[in-house]
Amino acid sequence: MQPIGLKPAGAFSAPEREAVYRAIHERRDVRGQFLPDPIDDAVLARLLAAAHAAPSVGLSQPWNFLVIRDAGVRGEIRTAFERANDEAREMFEGGRRALYSALKLQGISEAPLNLCITCDRRRGGPVVLGRTHDTDTDLYSTVCAVQNLWLAARAEGIGVGWVSIFRDADLRRILGLPEHVVPVAYLCLGHVTELFDAPELEARGWATRHALAQMTCTDRWGGPAWEPAAG
Ligand SMILES: Cc1cc2nc3c(=O)[nH]c(=O)nc-3n(C[C@H](O)[C@H](O)[C@H](O)COP(=O)(O)O)c2cc1C
Repeated sequence: MQPIGLKPAGAFSAPEREAVYRAIHERRDVRGQFLPDPIDDAVLARLLAAAHAAPSVGLSQPWNFLVIRDAGVRGEIRTAFERANDEAREMFEGGRRALYSALKLQGISEAPLNLCITCDRRRGGPVVLGRTHDTDTDLYSTVCAVQNLWLAARAEGIGVGWVSIFRDADLRRILGLPEHVVPVAYLCLGHVTELFDAPELEARGWATRHALAQMTCTDRWGGPAWEPAAG
């Protein structure tokens, strides 16, 4: 066996830590603030490398990245969004429907770049280490890649918006995806100079972020909320 290399792995310096947490907390889903300026290939290469550095079940790396610039393809995607969004709107009642109609939920045409991140459900063959008892772990791995890219994009001044309001069959047809490949994330990317300081859905009165304490429990489901030790 080859010797395995180890390198020092202490905590980052304070400014480095701050930068990581800043990217996490300032990352936003962007729909309306895209500038038309193209994204340099060097920047895109860094974003894709960040995505490709994600953890994956059994190191299967089930993702692919479809870089979409063609206006015709994006036009078809936009039409597919409109169709699904018309259906989605009808699923809400009364005031929620009116509020939903007023929300901007995609930036497909405005963003200079679209990116579809897919999951190849056959990647790594029929038996993948770690995927033996939960076959969805390939999808989870792909979502890790999306999040890596989203955070790296914040550091690069690139906004990212995730659009999921599509009929699966429409995305597959337009992008020519084979049956075993799942479109996990359809993303719109572009430079931004401003971002909402809280989720846009919060700013527009659709939903609020829950307190962290509400989302934790200890030992068993329903157990007491976890709290940091005093002092
Ligand atoms: C899986 C997933 C799908 C999403 N789909 C959409 C979408 O179709 N349209 C949209 O406007 N935002 C979409 N979003 C963005 C969320 O609305 C957004 O992440 C959430 O409101 C929190 O805001 P923030 O990302 O700015 O913190 C999606 C986010 C995720 C993680």
